Amino acid sequence: MAKKLWGTRFNKKTHALTDKFTSSITFDQRLAKYDILGSIAHAKMLARQKIISQKDTQQIVKGLNSILKDVISGKFKFDPGAEDIHSNIQELLNKKIGQPAHKLHTARSRNDQVALDVRMYLKSEIDDLVEFISQLQKAVLKFAISNSKVVIPGYTHLQIAQCVLLAHHLLAYVEALERDKQRLLDTRKRINFMPLGSCAFSGTGLKIDRDFVKKELNFSGVTANSIDSVSDRDYIIEVLADLAILSVHLSRIAEDLILWSTKEFNFIDIDFSFCTGSSIMPHKKNPDILELIRGSVGKIQGDLSSVVMLMKGLPTSYNRDMQLDKPPLFDSIDAVRDILEIFMALFSSIVIEKESVAAKVKDESLFSVDIVEYLIKKGLSYRQAHDIVGRMVRDCLDKGRKISSLSGKELKRYSPKLKEDIKELLNAWASVNLKKSFGSTNPKLVKRQLVAWNRKLK
Ligand code: ARG
Repeated sequence: MAKKLWGTRFNKKTHALTDKFTSSITFDQRLAKYDILGSIAHAKMLARQKIISQKDTQQIVKGLNSILKDVISGKFKFDPGAEDIHSNIQELLNKKIGQPAHKLHTARSRNDQVALDVRMYLKSEIDDLVEFISQLQKAVLKFAISNSKVVIPGYTHLQIAQCVLLAHHLLAYVEALERDKQRLLDTRKRINFMPLGSCAFSGTGLKIDRDFVKKELNFSGVTANSIDSVSDRDYIIEVLADLAILSVHLSRIAEDLILWSTKEFNFIDIDFSFCTGSSIMPHKKNPDILELIRGSVGKIQGDLSSVVMLMKGLPTSYNRDMQLDKPPLFDSIDAVRDILEIFMALFSSIVIEKESVAAKVKDESLFSVDIVEYLIKKGLSYRQAHDIVGRMVRDCLDKGRKISSLSGKELKRYSPKLKEDIKELLNAWASVNLKKSFGSTNPKLVKRQLVAWNRKLK
């Protein structure tokens, strides 16, 4: 068992169960790199401020750098008996360099140390996640560009509705992912404040220079209230909320693709390398990856509520409960990272089932709104037009007829304004071309969006 940072005050050893129950080393070891970098900056500051000697600091920095090397190369063996990563590294430094190591924890507490470590860790993770999201956006965009002429039936309430360009549908994903990215970057701005120097919670009487540490560690500012600095876990909740929203998008995209890959839809084919089979039904080719994406999103929502619940009753200041913010945080970050990684790869493997999609857009109910708008352009009110087309569609469905089979005379019975030229409206390409409003599925507008996104994501 490693030596406790606070052991001297105790008149006996802690119970083995106490050590086991309170230790966080199994999960907070992930913060090792940031803990060391933070300690190096802190030690340099202590020397500059003449709180400890240059000589001691040189030894501390040298010792920490050699531990850092082992951490980065994966050679570092975490001490399962350590209370947490902060104690583990301190203890190791004590062993490595002796006396000077005992000066490192001057004007610092694990309360501000852990806040610093997590903020540093999150800044780096956000940078990675943002890059991953961009990669996924690029994969989606590539698929959209290479199928820019494909029109699909669009759905509302999962009932066939109107024609849209496949690219338009795919750009909806790109838009949502962009908001996810911006949300993370916005959160990063609030994470970018340096809490070290808050110490346990009230600050210190020693003449430290928090601004120096801020600059050394590349933060944009220092936190302004020492109590808030050790009490605040908003940044963790914010990241989890950002990830929860992002994962909802990923889950919904997965759901689209699952539907589209069914025999019933048959819009897309997912490459065999990203599918799995059945142990009993030889014909099966299942979209298990997409289902697991959808499935793991539940856990990500759980991580968010876990930390919200953890925090909601805590008195202001540091409380040990807060140690438990890390497992859900790390869990969500890992899950989202894994999802983004496989999603990118899977997306690049999808091919569109062109013939099947072309057959589906022959369903003439897809064009009912186009006929309504045709009548509005001829001076009818929206209500009149909707009623006329409603009657016509109902009759066709009752009699098993297609709108395109109605004669000029039959059309006239619904309205004298309904002419044979409505038959020109009854095709997918005409339908999307009729859309004019900004943001619509009009091919020229969609093309412009594809170009703009292509430029933006480069
Ligand atoms: N491991 C703790 C955490 O993750 C930090 C240690 C603070 N412990 C303490 N007794 N003040 O929050």
